Amino acid sequence: MAKGRGKRDRAVKRQYEMLPYPPRDPKDEAKRLIEGSPSHLDELNHYLFAGRRDFSRPFRALVAGGGTGDAAIMLAQHLANRGDAGQVVYLDLSTASRKIAEARARARGLTNIEFLTGSLLDLPKMDIAPFDYIDCCGVLHHLEEPEAGLGALVAVLDDGGGMGLMLYATLGRTGVYPVQNALKALGGSADTAEQVRLAKSLLKDLSPNHWLNRNRVIGDHKLGDDAALYDLLLHPRDRSYLVPELLLLLEGAAMELVSFIEPVRYDPEHYLKDKELRKRARELPDGERAALAENLSGTIKTHSFYARKVGGVAPGPAKFDPEMIPFLKDGNADVLARALAARPALTVHFDTEPAQIDIPTGAAEFVKRIDGRTSLRDMQAAMPLSWPDFRARFAPAYKMLNGLNLLWLKSG
Ligand SMILES: C[S@@+](CC[C@H](N)C(=O)[O-])C[C@H]1O[C@@H](n2cnc3c(N)ncnc32)[C@H](O)[C@@H]1O
Repeated sequence: MAKGRGKRDRAVKRQYEMLPYPPRDPKDEAKRLIEGSPSHLDELNHYLFAGRRDFSRPFRALVAGGGTGDAAIMLAQHLANRGDAGQVVYLDLSTASRKIAEARARARGLTNIEFLTGSLLDLPKMDIAPFDYIDCCGVLHHLEEPEAGLGALVAVLDDGGGMGLMLYATLGRTGVYPVQNALKALGGSADTAEQVRLAKSLLKDLSPNHWLNRNRVIGDHKLGDDAALYDLLLHPRDRSYLVPELLLLLEGAAMELVSFIEPVRYDPEHYLKDKELRKRARELPDGERAALAENLSGTIKTHSFYARKVGGVAPGPAKFDPEMIPFLKDGNADVLARALAARPALTVHFDTEPAQIDIPTGAAEFVKRIDGRTSLRDMQAAMPLSWPDFRARFAPAYKMLNGLNLLWLKSG
């Protein structure tokens, strides 16, 4: 066992008992549902089940390290909206976090979540497998051996299922680890409030040139929230991943990447204008393309992605096939079509950083026709165009909008 491991294990559990993260107030459930990636039901259906999963059939999801409940609540609400065949199992070490997640479920009247307290490392002996889907966000990078954690998740994943994961990304966290190390070197305190006070004092005097102060995508320590500051700078154990390290982690667990979210951020051509450089980027294998994109972006701070078992039977991402129905994530098709028609490029923000996305010809025309019910085939027939012409005209628009995670496909 690595030296100090037991102490670090206890410190992690203590942190999330003292400061459940992310901070959530169950009263807010009356006002809004927090939705995000991964684990939005339509999104995971698109990426892992080719857009074809029938959620009126039994579907079991596990949220491992469920924290204060964001993913479990979103999944359970989405499943409840579709009927009563979907079940969510929530598992976390922290009883304080579980209490908040349970209160949120009660506030929504959700009865399709089973709440468990324990370590995800014990999943293989818990006799609750298999799961069609596993969410594990912001957890594996806090384990002593993330490989063992991922292995435990794989052991309870159905062969036809998949996972939505989030791991810290190294480049976007520039400046975080030197400050974590400085705080560790200064000795900390057994008292959480005192630790936070010392960290705030250190931050006050931190040079404006320190990478943490220059890093525009990291701001959790400026929110005025102690749980967020603690999670960023005082965590007893965290590590971050570059794309090649993440791919190795997956490979070691006999898993493979299905897609990063948002896909466009991991497309190196998005960062390159020069034709020759774009061509060279295009010729690289997928993993190297994603690694190149990460290096070109320089500011990706978390990697959110879907993965499935190597050799499993999970169908993978939906394809631009005639029978598929395109639909917008939060879709007002008219507003989006007007925005696309009005300009040659869209400015979007990834973690507050602006990015320009070229708008392909036909994007507005395509979006105008999206109503969440009409298949690509019916759109094509109404135009009228042959399928190859329709495809050639609109597949680039689909790629752009899907790349931004605005558009998914589902079967009728
Ligand atoms: C940063 S929070 C993320 C919570 C949630 N997944 C989210 O994204 O909002 C990490 C959570 O993982 C839990 N955790 C850490 N190690 C764990 C383990 N071995 N088994 C289960 N939960 C664990 C912590 O208690 C904490 O609630």
